[in-house]
Amino acid sequence: MTVQSTELEAQLEAIRLEAQQALIEASSLDQLEQLRVKYLGKKGPIPLVLGGMGKLDPSDRPRIGARANEVKEAIQSELDQRRTALQYAKLQAQLESETLDVSMPGVYRSQGRIHPLNTIMDRVNDIFVGLGYTVAEGPEMETDHYNFEALNFLPDHPARDMQDTLFLPDGNILRTHTSSVQIRYMEANEPPIRIIIPGRCYRRDTVDATHTAVFHQIEFLAIDEGLTFTDMKGTVRLFLEQLFGEVAIRMRPSFFPFTEPSAEVDMEWKGRWLEIMGCGMVDPNVLKAVGYDPEVYTGFAGGMGVERLAAVLYQIDDIRRFYTSDSRFLEQF
Ligand code: DAH
Repeated sequence: MTVQSTELEAQLEAIRLEAQQALIEASSLDQLEQLRVKYLGKKGPIPLVLGGMGKLDPSDRPRIGARANEVKEAIQSELDQRRTALQYAKLQAQLESETLDVSMPGVYRSQGRIHPLNTIMDRVNDIFVGLGYTVAEGPEMETDHYNFEALNFLPDHPARDMQDTLFLPDGNILRTHTSSVQIRYMEANEPPIRIIIPGRCYRRDTVDATHTAVFHQIEFLAIDEGLTFTDMKGTVRLFLEQLFGEVAIRMRPSFFPFTEPSAEVDMEWKGRWLEIMGCGMVDPNVLKAVGYDPEVYTGFAGGMGVERLAAVLYQIDDIRRFYTSDSRFLEQF
C-alpha cells in the first residue's frame, strides 16, 4: 500500500497548526519547554510522519523531507518568539512587583516627643545660657538649712507657712522651691556667678486647676560686683521678650525673705496683667550666710513656675493636664 504524499503533507500541516496553537496558549516558560519536547523531540510527531516516507514514491521523498524541515523551523521560530515574550513578561511582572511607589502613603509609627514642661525648661535654659548663665541643679530632698534658714527665713517667720512643706520622717523636707540650689551653689563657688536652676519642687497644696503638689520652677541668680536692680530689670525684660515676644512688663513691690527689695513681675498678655515671676536683689543676710562680703558683692535672683509659663504659652486652662499622661493632650506639642 502506498501512501499519498499529500496525506503526509496534510499531517505535517496539522502538526504545525496544533503546535502553534499550543505555543500561543502556553502561559509559562515551563509549559513552553514541555511543548518543545512534545513537538520537536525525538519521540515527537514529525519523526513519526517521516517514518512513513518509506512507503512513498521515491520522487516525493525530498519534498516531504523539505516540508518536514519547514514545519520544524516554523515551530522552532514560534517557540523562540514565545519564549522571548514570556521572558519579557516575567521580567516585567517582577519589576512591577518590586517597584517602590514613592507616592504611596507612608506607614505611620507614632513617635515619642518632648513633654511640654521639658520644652519650656529647655527654652528658658537656652535663653539664659545665651546671656552667659550656666545650668545648676540640686537635690529634691533638702534640709531646713538650704530650703529656709540660709535663705533668711527666720524660724518662726510666717513665710514658712506660705510654702506648705512636705516633711519626711527623718526630718528632711522636699524642697518647696529651687532657691535652695542658690545656697548650695554659692557655698561651693566664688563670685562672679550666673546660674539658671531648673527643677522639681513639692508643696502640700490642694490640687486644683492652678496647683499641683509636684511642680517645676526655674530660678536665676547673678552675683557680681556692682550689680543693680536695673541690671535685673534688663535681664528679666530680655528674657521675657525672648520667650513671649514683645510684651510690656511692670514690677510691683513684694516680699521674699531672701531678697531686698523684692518684686513681682507682671507681663501684659492678651490685654491683662499676668503675674509671671518673683525676683529681687539678693538679701545681704543670704550673702553673709554663704560667706560672701555684702559690701563687695551684690546680686539679683528670680524664680518662676514652669507650669505657669507653659499654661500661658500653650493656652492651657488646667495645669493638671501636664501630669495625666493623656497622649491626646501630649501629642499636640
Ligand atoms: N522661691 C520663690 C517661690 O518659690 C520664687 C522666687 C522669688 C525666687 C524671688 C527667687 C526670688 O530667687 O528672688 O515663690
